[in-house]
Amino acid sequence: MTEGDLDEVTALAASAFAQPWGREVFAEELARSWSMLRTLRAAPGGPICAFANFWLVRDEVHVLNLATAPELRRRGYAQLLLDDLLGFARAHRARHVTLEVRRGNAAAQRLYRAAGFAVIGVRPRYYAEDEEDALVMLLTLDPETGFVEPREDVAF
Ligand SMILES: CC(C)(COP(=O)(O)OP(=O)(O)OC[C@H]1O[C@@H](n2cnc3c(N)ncnc32)[C@H](O)[C@@H]1OP(=O)(O)O)[C@@H](O)C(=O)NCCC(=O)NCCS
Repeated sequence: MTEGDLDEVTALAASAFAQPWGREVFAEELARSWSMLRTLRAAPGGPICAFANFWLVRDEVHVLNLATAPELRRRGYAQLLLDDLLGFARAHRARHVTLEVRRGNAAAQRLYRAAGFAVIGVRPRYYAEDEEDALVMLLTLDPETGFVEPREDVAF
């Protein structure tokens, strides 16, 4: 992603999240050496269909944002970005991939669970605007093989 994509990503985030980040926040992410912003276009030069934003900190990849334009959902775009993110994690020999997801966000949880994430914790009333809980999800990679280590949900 480049600075030229900032307006489009900001608009996509506004259509996908209740409390979306503004342009300046994405610009800050772009400037951080440890932050990755990936965009997906169905065709070269076409509009951005989906984007992902994640950090690499030591042996952990932390997912901050993953969103698909509302009119383009259920076409596998988020799956492609998640696969790319996990490939990045493996290439950097990251051991853990973590994220927070709203307790009521069944769509995202299903996507993450299918990849091997499991719920390991809860942050009560994490989302200040409506006080919804965040579930903390974790995926662990074997550093030698890159395989996902099996993990069960902890109930909260
Ligand atoms: C969650 C989100 C990123 C999924 O994007 P998407 O491009 O539609 O997802 P995909 O088409 O790649 O779906 C992959 C899998 O995720 C699951 N999934 C996605 N949307 C789903 C839905 N509405 N209901 C149930 N499962 C869903 C399914 O398992 C799906 O596989 P399938 O279509 O073969 O059944 C999208 O709904 C979104 O942008 N939501 C708003 C932002 C958000 O909540 N982001 C996550 C923050 S943690």
